Amino acid sequence: MKYQVTITETLSRKISIEAPTAEIAEEQVRGLYRDEEIVLGNSDFCYFNVDVCGEEAEPFYLSTEGDFSLYFGDCMELLLLLGDKVDMVFADPPYFLSNGGISVQSGKIVSVNKGEWDKGIPVEEIHAFNMKWIGMCRDVLTDNGTIWISGTYHNIFSVANALASLGFKILNVITWVKTNPPPNISCRYFTYSTEFIIWARKMAKVPHYYNYELMKAINGDKQMTDVWRLPAIAPWEKTCGKHPTQKPLSLMSRIILASTKKGDKILDPFCGSGTTGIAANLLERNFVGIEREREYVEMSKRRRQEIENPITAESYRTRIKDIDFVEHYEYML
Ligand SMILES: C[S@@+](CC[C@H](N)C(=O)[O-])C[C@H]1O[C@@H](n2cnc3c(N)ncnc32)[C@H](O)[C@@H]1O
Repeated sequence: MKYQVTITETLSRKISIEAPTAEIAEEQVRGLYRDEEIVLGNSDFCYFNVDVCGEEAEPFYLSTEGDFSLYFGDCMELLLLLGDKVDMVFADPPYFLSNGGISVQSGKIVSVNKGEWDKGIPVEEIHAFNMKWIGMCRDVLTDNGTIWISGTYHNIFSVANALASLGFKILNVITWVKTNPPPNISCRYFTYSTEFIIWARKMAKVPHYYNYELMKAINGDKQMTDVWRLPAIAPWEKTCGKHPTQKPLSLMSRIILASTKKGDKILDPFCGSGTTGIAANLLERNFVGIEREREYVEMSKRRRQEIENPITAESYRTRIKDIDFVEHYEYML
């Protein structure tokens, strides 16, 4: 891949360079300055701005309607190469909790290891990782856009700090209470039955979109609270294969309905099996997903192709409580 790194700085120079990755390109430009014994950012050299742009990335898969594009690779690279801005980001990043523990699934003892991408790393590294990808997502969000990020205690405090440091305004912290959590087999802790999802807007002073009326209607005409009781993933959501941390369509649908309008563009930089995209398309929103494991981009593609059959798509809509509600609600309006 060719990248163009442009540095605009105090001496009004502009430098462009070609390199195989964005990081190498940036490092090469910094190297040129080191040769001249200029340290970027020191007091004599007060202004510089590094702008990396590459050729626009090619999607691994694009639906015929153009409403579902899937990119195969590392989001840290690909986020720099997306064309248009997006209205909302949902991210289910690595939680860094795969440390050899065990749990129970369908009555069987199973390992909680999700994959290499989820292995525990030192807290400083978790925070540096979160700062980097959240900063990149901020650049691709529209000014009135919002971001949702899910997590557990392993990563969520770092995510909240990163959002605040990067200038986001936190709007809510949703507690997702799983109505059917697996038991705690060690019997030394309370059963883990919750996940958190932080909702934040890009700009402190630019208003965001919240579909208050619809959320209230879904909640039996009472204000929707920040505690959502929704079941964990159901077997009918796994017809195209298994992802170890697949999110339920019911959770994604509520997030999308609360914070986007029909036709909006939604980005998921860690899209796994593509759940965000499936919920987005069932609700007539556009989707851009990034995933770096081939097995999972293939799975997302199969899931998207599955809902090309209108009967399957409709059967999913009727099984997702909020979508089923909206279809009747819109009819009554
Ligand atoms: C927690 S899972 C997301 C699951 C997804 N929400 C779903 O419903 O299927 C995180 C995903 O991010 C992917 N991943 C991890 N690091 C990545 C990176 N730097 N760039 C792109 N994908 C990454 C992993 O392969 C994994 O599939």
